[in-house]
Parts: sequence; structure tokens; C-alpha cells
Amino acid sequence: MLSGKRLLLIVSGGIAAYKSLDLVRRLKERGAELRCILTAGGAQFVTPLSLSSLSGEKVYEDMFSLTDENEMGHIRLARDADLIVVVPASADFLAKMAGGLAGDLASAVLLASDRPVLVAPAMNVAMWNHAATRRNMALLEERGVMRVGPEAGDLACGEVGEGRMAEVPDIMAAIEEILVPHTSLTGRHALVTSGPTHEPIDPVRYIANRSSGKQGHAIAGALARMGAETTLVSGPTNEPDPQGVEVLRVETALQMFATCQSALPVDVAVCAAAVGDWKVNGLADSKLKKASGEPPVLALSENPDILASLSQAGNLRPALVVGFAAETEDLAQQAAAKRQAKGCDWILANDVSAGTGTFGGDDNTVRLIDGDGAEDWPTMTKVQVAERLARRIADYFSPVA
Ligand code: CTP
Repeated sequence: MLSGKRLLLIVSGGIAAYKSLDLVRRLKERGAELRCILTAGGAQFVTPLSLSSLSGEKVYEDMFSLTDENEMGHIRLARDADLIVVVPASADFLAKMAGGLAGDLASAVLLASDRPVLVAPAMNVAMWNHAATRRNMALLEERGVMRVGPEAGDLACGEVGEGRMAEVPDIMAAIEEILVPHTSLTGRHALVTSGPTHEPIDPVRYIANRSSGKQGHAIAGALARMGAETTLVSGPTNEPDPQGVEVLRVETALQMFATCQSALPVDVAVCAAAVGDWKVNGLADSKLKKASGEPPVLALSENPDILASLSQAGNLRPALVVGFAAETEDLAQQAAAKRQAKGCDWILANDVSAGTGTFGGDDNTVRLIDGDGAEDWPTMTKVQVAERLARRIADYFSPVA
């Protein structure tokens, strides 16, 4: 699958460096062409000999090596790759990248490169959560650096928390998502809902929620990139329209419901919107005034459930219906129950408790529940979650002849 793809692997200092050896082996099995740079820190954990034995290539370590510069200057190393992967990316290395330092070969190559970069951070939980690292990572992501992981779990230092490097199959999946063009959704029609809804109280007030629309918009963009004719029905958001997607803007849940119904038939529907569960009865024609004395009592009634209606749309039911389950407790159980209750095929469960930063944030940690069981995905950016979901959807459909 990766045949003809050129990867530059940067191995920085961290115990997770040992996993880079397995990654090299798997990348070679898939036909990738590999070059490796080992930082001084990385060399404390794996040897250049193991890396070069597995990659079948010379390993680069020293910026001031005359032979290396003659054979393959650092500028060429920087430019001759389809993707640069930093595995593991230590806190120190991320800081160097964010700061644009160039005092060692790996940092200099990154600074000189215009190629896409994927990092797999690995460090102690306190280091990962430190404001400095968060800021460095956010800055790198703003510049387009992609990230896979880290995951939560037991750390090599004996502590428990987020900071463990993503597993090799997840790093492989992230690499393939970036490098392997996927067009198996060509000829399919996709419908995606995104963002919050606004449920009006009077002409100036409404009930809303914290959804940013980032995840739904990213999914619509990813499906379109894979060739699907994609309709995005979006509540009010600040997200830019994804490229190549038909965007239909709505405000209320009722409008979202009607717009989705009229978009049928589609092959796949993904409901990522945080639809307001209730609307206000007896919408006031004019602004409610304080002067009237007592605060108004709002009477609410339930909005239609768009996911459930699509899942139970009879002849018009999309072949694949995917929902989200935003939960703050008993994630797995609630999400599985939601899948049953709504009648959808897959549910992506995510924890939206206050501390997770999922609502409005750039990251998401999801568990995909289908008829066969559950699949835990590592913490990824919402864009990567979207790519992975789109790929999973593409795998579900056989290519259209
Ligand atoms: N959903 C929908 N229409 C609604 C409510 C929810 O399409 N009126 C969809 C969401 O887009 C999501 C899924 O249903 O894909 C679950 O949403 P969630 O807010 O987690 O659940 P609710 O059904 O609202 O249930 P509850 O708030 O009780 O958890």
C-alpha cells in the first residue's frame, strides 16, 4: 500500500523509541522507502545499527558529518520525503520544533522542509499536560503539523495518564490516511449534520449548546476528499465551509430535520450535530421584557430526533447510518444503548465531560461501536478522527464500478 512512498523517520529521545523499530519493519513490509534520522537522545534508546538493519538504509545522525553532507545534504533529506514522521516526539523535540531551532540534524531538516509532518508524542503525563508543551503542540498544529496520540495508560515512568505513544498500528493508520489516496466513495452520496442548533425563545434570545461544528465539518471534508458527493447540514458555527461540500445552513432542530429529510436518498448519513433536544413552546413575537415582574417560565417540547428518523426511514434509509454519543458518564454502556434505541449502525462515543475539552476543542478520543463490538481509537485531532471515519466508511462500501 505504501509502495513508492518516501518516508523520513525522525527518532527522538524517549523510551518509546523502541517502538520505532517495529514501525520501520512494518513500513518496509508495506513497500515504503525509508530514511531515518536518529537524534542524540534517540540514540540513548535505540542504536543506529538496529535502525539501519531494519530500514536497509544508512541512518543519519550528525549535521556536521562531511561524508553525510556529501552523500545526502540535510536540505535534500528535508525535501526528498512524501512525509516526515517524528516517532517518538519527546517534549524537548516538540519544543525545538515549535521554537524553530536548528542546532541538530533532525531540527534543521524540519526547519528546512516544506513536506507534511506527523508527530507521535510520548512523554510523562505532567510533561504532556504542562502549559509549555500544550502551547508548543497547539502552535505546531496551527502550522499544519499532524499528530497521532498520545494515549492514556501506564507510562514507562510508573505513572498513569496521557502521554503514552500511540501504538504502531495506529501510527501506520495515520500514515496511510495521509499518504494513500482513497477514492472508493466516488459515486456515493453522503449526508452529514454538524454544529449546534439554536432554539429561539423570542426574537433576540435562544437556547444553544457548546458544539463548535469542528468534528462534523471535518467529517464532511474528509468524505468529500474520498470522492463522495457530500451534503453538510450545519447549525450556526464559525467553521469555514469544507472544500467540495454542499453546505446547507439551518438554525433550529426542526429546520435541520426537514433539510436532512429532503436530502434523501443518500448512501451514508453521519449525524455529528449536537441537536437541541427541546424547543420552546409558544415562541414570543416580541422581546420578553423584565418589567413584566416574574421571570418567564419556559415550556419546552421535544424536537424530532434526526438520527433516529434517518435510521428508521424505511425505503429511504441510508445503507449506513452513523451517530455520535456525547456522554459524561458510563460512556460505553450509554453509547451502546443509544445505538440500539436509535437504530443506527455505528455509534462514535465520546466523553464530553468538562475536563476533556472535547466540546469546542481540537481533539477527540472516540470509541466506535458497531454490531460486532467496540474499537478504541487513540486521541487524535478532530481532522484525523474524520479521516479515519471516512476511511472506515469507504471500506464499508465496495468501490462503485
Ligand atoms: N441527535 C439527532 N437529533 C436529535 C438529538 C440527537 O440527530 N434531536 C443525534 C446526534 O447528532 C448524535 C446522536 O443523536 O449523533 C446522539 O446525540 P446525544 O446528544 O448524545 O444524545 P441524545 O439523543 O440527545 O440523548 P441524551 O441527550 O439524552 O443523551
